[in-house]
Parts: sequence; structure tokens; C-alpha cells
Amino acid sequence: MFIGKPPDIPSSEVTSESEYLRFEGRRRFLRRAATGAAALGAAALGADRLAAAIDPRTTVLAESNDTQLKTVYSPLTTTGERLTPFYDITHYNNFYEFGVSKSDPAEHAGDLPTRPWTVRVEGAVKKPRTFGIEDLLKLRPLEDRVYRHRCVEAWSMVIPWVGYSLSEFIKQCDPLPSAKYVEFLSYYDARVERWSHQDATINWPYHEGLRMDEAMNELTLLTFGLYGQVLPNQDGAPVRIVVPWKYGFKSPKSIVAVRFVERQPRTTWNDQSPEEYGFYSNVNPNVDRVPWSQKTERRIGLPFYDQLRTTLMFNGYGNQVAYLYKGMNLSKYY
Ligand code: MTE
Repeated sequence: MFIGKPPDIPSSEVTSESEYLRFEGRRRFLRRAATGAAALGAAALGADRLAAAIDPRTTVLAESNDTQLKTVYSPLTTTGERLTPFYDITHYNNFYEFGVSKSDPAEHAGDLPTRPWTVRVEGAVKKPRTFGIEDLLKLRPLEDRVYRHRCVEAWSMVIPWVGYSLSEFIKQCDPLPSAKYVEFLSYYDARVERWSHQDATINWPYHEGLRMDEAMNELTLLTFGLYGQVLPNQDGAPVRIVVPWKYGFKSPKSIVAVRFVERQPRTTWNDQSPEEYGFYSNVNPNVDRVPWSQKTERRIGLPFYDQLRTTLMFNGYGNQVAYLYKGMNLSKYY
């Protein structure tokens, strides 16, 4: 059992920089860089240069329009790695509600109704309530955070997300002390997501979960955008979770409910294949997942000869998250 079909070679690997730059929003993002380095384009923009580009001290505030977000620099950004081009991040996706091949979500997710949008807070909380997306966008300053993104299918990207720590939102939810886990539910409407039947084994809606301390770790991001713009539908608009030290399937898209629960919740891929996809699913090069070895990964958006990377424990975020698993046998709790 595996997620979708084995990775294809994306056509975007041969995408020219000029094609990439035709994205208007992306151009605006680059314009925010104070130096001529911006002209080098995204493919050549290293993450530290991105950080300089989005540092408020060197940044002209974003022009306001429907898609652009006002963002601030984040010290939690990963530095030093080349960003994956916008085109690849938005055309090589897993979003099974919209089809099983990597290019399907970009083609089909246009009808996802992202406004109005609400997120219900339920379960072990002082008072259940509902947040509108506009309120969520205003709750905290939106940070630019560059994270590595590692899929269990052994491909990876480096993505400049926009959002704030999920912990900030959880504090507003007033969970009860009995809340030990957080469960997330994605939007599901079979009339809109007409392709969801292609993977008939998934029990919709897409559901995921984290232990409370994982959800409260500052790296766990409530995510509203990427490359300074609102999330494209295929990437989980208008709000998703990103957990950078876990395989990508632990990062549910287009969430409509956050439920605080006492027991470990069921999760989409664990339901499907518990032997392969554990609840924790931390990136771990020492535990393979059929049919992929997890020792290496293919970095999307680079020339073929330059794609291979060694996979790092916790996707390289061990300093920030290893304490969460102290004393746990991670081969057993995979
Ligand atoms: N969320 C929903 N609702 N539906 C999905 O199919 N796929 C997951 C995760 N979140 C998925 C989802 C998987 S398998 C991965 S690898 C990531 O989203 C992919 O995120 P990306 O397309 O933005 O790279």
C-alpha cells in the first residue's frame, strides 16, 4: 500500500525561469527584495537571501490586493537552501480529494469555495466556537517561514510558508486539561471534490492528528500562504497545518474543524495501512516505508543530477523537537 502512484518526473523540472516568473504574485514577492539580487529569480534565491528579502528592515510593505499577505520576518525560518520554485510547489501536489496524480489538484481544485470559510473548535474546550477565516488571519502577525517539506514518497521541497504557530491559535481555544490530542478535519464535499472516489479506500473527510505537545511546539504552523501570497487552492486554501518534522501527510489541507480529544485520534493513512503509516510519522531515515526507502529523498524542482539529498532525522528539526520523543522507541512508534 502506498500513497498515490509512485512519483513521476514533473514537467516543471524543465520549467524555465521566465515561465516561472510569469506568475504575477511571485513577481510582486520578488519586488519586495531591496537589492538587485531579486532579479536573479526564485530558483537562484537562497533562503538567507529570501530572509533578507522579507526582513521588515529591508522590505517595502506588500501591495494590498486579494492574494498578497502582509508578512513579517520569522526567526524560525530554515536558512541556506534553495527554495523550490512556486510552479513546482503548486503543480506537484497530493490532495486526493481532487485526484490521484500530482498534477490533478492544480487542474481541479479551482472550485474549492474558500470564502466564506470557518473553522469549528470542538471537543474538550471551555466553550466550543467557530472562527471565521478573516479573524484567523488577524489573530497574529503572519510570518514568512521557510521549511523543508518531506513526503513519505521520498520527495522533498523547500517552501516559504506564511502563517503563525498553531500554539497561538490553541491558546485562543481554551482547551481543557483533559485534552491530550488535537484532531483536524479537512473540508469535504463530494460534489466539489468529484475526484475523491479515485482513491476509494480513503475514509473522508481527510483527518489527521497530533499529540497536544506536538501541536503546541512552535514549529507547527497554522498556514495561510506561501511565497507571500494566500495559499493556492491546491496547496490547502484557505488554511492548513504544516508540521515540518513529520511526513507531509501529517499536514492536513483546507481544515474546517479542530477537535480537542482525550484519546489518540484515528488518522487517514493509519486507517489505511497501520503497518506503514504510524500515528507519529516523524521523518526517520532509519525506518523504511514500503515501497520507499527513507534514507534519501529527491528534491523537486532541481535538475535531475542535483536532486538527491540524504534524509535527516526529524527532517533536520531535531534540535527543536527531539525532546518530544525522549525515551520513546521511534522504530516502534513510527
Ligand atoms: N490534506 C488533504 N485534505 N488531502 C490530502 O490528500 N495529502 C497529504 C497532505 N495533506 C492531503 C492533505 C499529503 S500525502 C502530503 S505529502 C501533503 O499534503 C502534500 O502537500 P503539498 O501538496 O502542499 O505539497
